[in-house]
Amino acid sequence: MTEKLMKAQTMHPVTLEVNGHARRGHASPRMLLTDFLRHELGLTGTHVGCEHGVCGACTVRIDGVACRGCLTLAVQVQDRRVDTVEGLADSDGTLSQLQAAFKRHHALQCGFCTAGILMSSADWLERLKQQGHKPTEQEVRDMLSGHLCRCTGYTPIVKALMEVAHA
Ligand code: FES
Ligand code: FES
Repeated sequence: MTEKLMKAQTMHPVTLEVNGHARRGHASPRMLLTDFLRHELGLTGTHVGCEHGVCGACTVRIDGVACRGCLTLAVQVQDRRVDTVEGLADSDGTLSQLQAAFKRHHALQCGFCTAGILMSSADWLERLKQQGHKPTEQEVRDMLSGHLCRCTGYTPIVKALMEVAHA
């Protein structure tokens, strides 16, 4: 093995805040954030679909902003705050308002897309709230255009988001 290749595979410590807790793990320079969260930190709620930024299944929040975990390197989140779907519910298991609306409207079937949609939606709804804006159905659909769902036909997801956005 060449020295260059050995260097590329060196594991680096990565310290960050995940869902409000200080966490530490190790990542090679090329390890994706999705793999770091799932395999190094054991947070398997973040899903991996296309791995090239199209499906949205891997979406997490970095410093509050929804980001593709498959387009982010683990070493880029050093000293950052990352929120994943595991942090949405309260510590006693009580679902967030958004999760409860998804449940009520049957807005998931296989659930593969759901974590990513929830994380994008949480960021989007927070920003709308700060602006005092109530979205139209078309605006909800535009936001969802960054996510692929093969099961639901999107209608129940739109209903859940409209309910939360207009509560
Ligand atoms: S797995 Fe990241 S966008 Fe599809
Ligand atoms: S619920 Fe199956 S992909 Fe969306």
